Amino acid sequence: MPWKRRAFGGRNRARALNISDLREIARRRVPGFVFEYVEGGAEDEATLRHNREALAALRFVPPTLIDTGGRSLQAPLFGRATAAPLVIAPTGLNGMLHPQGDIALARAAAAFGIPYTLSTLSTTLLEDVAAQAGGRLWMQLYVMKNRAIAENIMARAAAAGYEALVFTSDANVFGCREWDKRNYVRPGKPTLPAIADSLRHPRWLIDVLLRKGMPRFRNIEAFLPPGAASAVGGSTIIPQMFEPTIAWTDIAWIRRHWPGKLLVKGVLSVQDARRALDTGCDGIILTNHGGRQLDHCVAPIEVLGEVAAAVGDRLTIVIDSGFRRGSDIAKALALGAHTVMIGRAALYGLAADGERGVRRALDMLAVELDRVLGQLGCRSVADLRASLLRQSTGHSIDQSID
Ligand SMILES: Cc1cc2nc3c(=O)[nH]c(=O)nc-3n(C[C@H](O)[C@H](O)[C@H](O)COP(=O)(O)O)c2cc1C
Repeated sequence: MPWKRRAFGGRNRARALNISDLREIARRRVPGFVFEYVEGGAEDEATLRHNREALAALRFVPPTLIDTGGRSLQAPLFGRATAAPLVIAPTGLNGMLHPQGDIALARAAAAFGIPYTLSTLSTTLLEDVAAQAGGRLWMQLYVMKNRAIAENIMARAAAAGYEALVFTSDANVFGCREWDKRNYVRPGKPTLPAIADSLRHPRWLIDVLLRKGMPRFRNIEAFLPPGAASAVGGSTIIPQMFEPTIAWTDIAWIRRHWPGKLLVKGVLSVQDARRALDTGCDGIILTNHGGRQLDHCVAPIEVLGEVAAAVGDRLTIVIDSGFRRGSDIAKALALGAHTVMIGRAALYGLAADGERGVRRALDMLAVELDRVLGQLGCRSVADLRASLLRQSTGHSIDQSID
């Protein structure tokens, strides 16, 4: 048989070299329907693929023979230093990947020295994350039709000392993740093959389902109708509860309830970046939700340069969607992002090895970023600049990390 190159997906997790290896390990450790929930994008997954393609289309032009001793990845964020220009993105249902779920992610972020963003749809109470993990915590806000839920989340997050609120603006209408849906006969009812596959993952069954019980949407449980709080049933019911009327005028309502830093997650144009500025936001997150919402959407990296030129001196610019390598992060920083949010890359670490796996994922990205800095003749992330990049035409993309 001819030799086949493949990412490492074996049992010895210490041998994982990169995020792609962690992803293969994660794929083996959780049932297919759980992996699919993490992995999938909306409809034809054109946005999902394009996020990687757009990053790959940028090439470095490295200067040579520059002293790069004493490099540092430290970066300021809202007036305080982070160990690296990274933030863990908000993701719902983390308790399906590992029994420690949000706590493992938040602890790894705190130990590493970067913020963790807790989702409205988390499986852990926001107060428990603050008490058990600590560190710099950001709270993500989904606004549901019953606005009392959002007001409750904001009041509790402020009381628990969360630093920033991340108002997600791109889920007024929920994206259709068809590959995820295929695993259910109807909302909340997995198909027989999905159930059979779960039985082939006894360790996951015992650790995630039997020991702790089916994960639940703890933060908003009190507001949900019967049956909607369970992760499997609720994930198909909750999207219908999202508020389609959210608009820029709601920033004033949020400001009345939220005293801390405020970022809008879902901006993809200069015009909207200016609106965020005009309505008094502190930052924006350039994102297409990791390809899970609008299909055939522009990649955030494609609009970053123009947005940074327009508002980068007055707003904190965060970017996500498709970041899997230190080189991806370097490209965004060179184009004017202040920090990068990591979604699936952290989740692969969580599913592969809990808190230790998330730490591995963060370490991998940091080591890679440091190496790229050195290879680009930079001593700090502030040295990264657009002149180090060139847009490649007729690019070919390495499909092994998609
Ligand atoms: C499994 C999963 C769950 C997510 N849940 C949320 C969420 O609850 N709230 C939110 O604002 N974004 C959510 N997102 C989007 C992430 O915050 C982030 O924008 C995206 O994952 C970035 O792309 P990446 O996964 O390619 O890094 C989720 C993403 C994934 C993969």
